[in-house]
This record gives sequence, structure tokens and C-alpha cells, in this order.
Amino acid sequence: MSIDAMSAAIGQQGILHDISFTVDRGDWLGIVGGSGAGKSTLLKAILGARRPARPQAGSMIFDGVLRPFAKGWSGRPKGIAYVPQSPTHGLDPLRRIKWQWTQLFRCKCCVADYKPIFTALGLPDPEMHFPHEWSLGMQQRLLLAMALVEEPKLLILDEPTSALDTVIAAQVLTEVERIARDKSIAVLMVTHDLALAARFSNQITIMEQGRIVESGPTDTVLNRPQHPYARDLVAHRAWQRAETANA
Ligand SMILES: Nc1ncnc2c1ncn2[C@@H]1O[C@H](COP(=O)(O)OP(=O)(O)O)[C@@H](O)[C@H]1O
Ligand SMILES: [Mg+2]
Repeated sequence: MSIDAMSAAIGQQGILHDISFTVDRGDWLGIVGGSGAGKSTLLKAILGARRPARPQAGSMIFDGVLRPFAKGWSGRPKGIAYVPQSPTHGLDPLRRIKWQWTQLFRCKCCVADYKPIFTALGLPDPEMHFPHEWSLGMQQRLLLAMALVEEPKLLILDEPTSALDTVIAAQVLTEVERIARDKSIAVLMVTHDLALAARFSNQITIMEQGRIVESGPTDTVLNRPQHPYARDLVAHRAWQRAETANA
């Protein structure tokens, strides 16, 4: 997928400015930025949303199809799976978990067995449970399982660890990494956490106030950041701890 010169606004107020990047199959792109940088707005635009921000300029090419943002599109393009920042936005609270799993599949004959992926992501048997009987972390992992079983070409994760504690987050993302590699799924992960991006992404893009200020292979961004905001983020030592823990 590639995005070229995209911008978006709420009313007269510009929210995203001249956003361009590419994610190829096999890539894991981490988009890093503080709260309010425009990360969620960017993901919503890719998924076809026109609110709260309206995409105005630029285009997206996904799976060989060119889509001008100004014309818009309805609904998530086929081949893109998305896990929202808050799991409560992705599940129907009134339906049992097993029912929600079955609904992913058009015909009853090809319902994928949930057991392998549930085990891989550390989820228990959903038997008779409703979403509220599971913790937010479990619900987020459930959404991840539902996204992965579609075997998308591109998996989009918005703050994938916001509902998970640190150890579980690392285990879950390591599992996602393995599945993404097996099925050659590209991953676009949005996070405020440079350490997390450094650990899983081979490409990093840093956003500040709706603009991309730094972008490149993870090693280059971490070792030779150019923009002052990127230098500040990198100088903050949290990412180095994560690298050491990984070594
Ligand atoms: N519903 C909304 N109404 C008005 N402004 C919004 C709304 N949602 C987001 N914004 C504004 O858009 C900008 C980007 O927000 P967002 O994409 O949620 O940032 P991030 O996900 O990086 O924290 C922020 O300045 C925020 O105030
Ligand atoms: Mg957000």
C-alpha cells in the first residue's frame, strides 16, 4: 500500500498535512507520535471514514487500485484488516463471543477452527462467554484473532497494546509477527511508544501535529534522527531499554 500527499481537515482546521508513505508485503511499519498527532485520523481515512476529519487531497494505492482521497470510498477496502484502539468498538456486547467468530465466515461450512489462533494468542475457550466477561486485553486479542483469520494483505493496528500489560503485549505481538511472516501480511502499527515500534517495525515514521517529520528504516531513524522532535523521542532512553531486553 502507498499513500501519496494526503491531507485531511475538520471544518477549516487542517488535521493531516502532506502524508506519504509505503508499506510493502513483509514490511512492518510503525507510525509513532504523541497524543493528538493525527495517527487515528490517518487510519480512519485509510478505512474510508470521512468523519470526524474529511480527507481532501492525495491518493492511496492498495492492491493495485488507485483511490483518490477527495472522492472517498465506502467501507474498508477488501484485504485490509483493522484492530481498533478500543476493543469495545469492535465487538457486539449482546452476542456471545463464539457467535461473533462464526459471523466472520459467510458460509457455515468454512468456519475456521478458533482453537489454534486462540491458543497462539493466549485466549481461553470462548464457549458460552459474552465480551464483557473478558478483560479489555482479552477482547483486544480476540479482535486480533478475528483480524488475522481473514488472512488480510494488510493488518492495521491502532495502539495494539493500549489494553494489554507489557509482558502480554510483547508475547501477543511476537505471535502476530510470526503469523504475519508466515502469511506475508504487511503490518501498519500506530503507537505513541517508540520502544514498541523499534522492537517490531523494520520501518518507522514519526508524526507530529499532523505531519510526517521523520521516516526511514528503523536502524537509521534510531541511530541518525534528523528532525528535532525525532531526536527528542530517540534521546528519551525508553527504546534503548527495550532493545537491551530484546538482545
Ligand atoms: N471528533 C473530533 N472532533 C474534533 N477534533 C478531533 C476529533 N477527533 C480528533 N480530533 C482532533 O484531530 C487531531 C488528531 O487526533 P487523533 O487522530 O485522534 O490523534 P492520535 O490518534 O495521534 O492521538 C487532534 O488535534 C484532535 O484534537
Ligand atoms: Mg489515537
